[in-house]
Amino acid sequence: MSSQATPQKRVTIHELRRMKAAGEKIAVVTAYDATAARLVDEAGVDAILVGDSVGMVVQGHDSTLPVTLDQMIYHSAAVRRGLSRSGGRAHLVGDMPFGSYQASADEAVRNAARMVAEGGVEAVKLEGGSDFADVIGRVVRAGIPVMGHIGLTPQSVHQMGGYVVQGKDNEKAQRLIRDARALEAAGCYALVLECIPAELARFITGQLGIPTIGIGAGAHCDGQVLVFHDLLGFETGVRPRFVKRFGELGQAASAAVKGYVDEVKQRAFPAEEHSFHSPSLRLLQVVEPAADEAEDHPGVIGAPV
Ligand code: KIV
Repeated sequence: MSSQATPQKRVTIHELRRMKAAGEKIAVVTAYDATAARLVDEAGVDAILVGDSVGMVVQGHDSTLPVTLDQMIYHSAAVRRGLSRSGGRAHLVGDMPFGSYQASADEAVRNAARMVAEGGVEAVKLEGGSDFADVIGRVVRAGIPVMGHIGLTPQSVHQMGGYVVQGKDNEKAQRLIRDARALEAAGCYALVLECIPAELARFITGQLGIPTIGIGAGAHCDGQVLVFHDLLGFETGVRPRFVKRFGELGQAASAAVKGYVDEVKQRAFPAEEHSFHSPSLRLLQVVEPAADEAEDHPGVIGAPV
């Protein structure tokens, strides 16, 4: 089914920084399994995010909060294997899930190390502003690159009162600017800006030496990230304004499965070309074994004619 492709030059955190300096846009997509990882890598994405959005688009929760560290490691490892099959050009970053880095810097380092060692990611992403600068500094000093994430931070959904655009007034915008600077100073190599006004994202992008990756943050970020299921049109529910569907694979998948169901019902599938034959095979005739034989040969249900 699969073959190992020729390894390509990997995108590193340094390459992402070079891209910003050169004005080259950075394309990031989420993935949660090996097949998706192979497809998006072959399509030329610069980075893959194993997002804790897995909790919503794969696990069916209505927030990212129930996702565990073990689940993130499981999905990251699957994505890493898919990347190895495709040649593995894309940079791989994995989300630190809710509760895995908030309690202490020691715990954050321990859990980030598991994401790298067991999940195979090259970097971790964690949500939060300047309050997390110390934690981020500790993880970075442990040798693990950290991508920051500010603006709409889904793990704080209850504190934000819903999935709402952040930084819309001057005071809140100033706070986000301070957060962005603090995270760069703490050692982040890139920063996700989620659902903030495009003007604010443009300003922050101009202030930082590290690349900004936007989602619902306008066109002036150094890169963009979209959730795999959103960009391919797998999600049928509410479509946020910032999502553009580049395909309608949800409809295509339903139509394909319906075609299969119809053909099974109409006895059209499997056809001759889907069947195996063995001309030398003699037909089997079911023979009821005698009671004493049945005890001796409990597995025998038939004998050649
Ligand atoms: O979990 C996720 O997919 C994310 C992106 C939307 C940035 O954090």
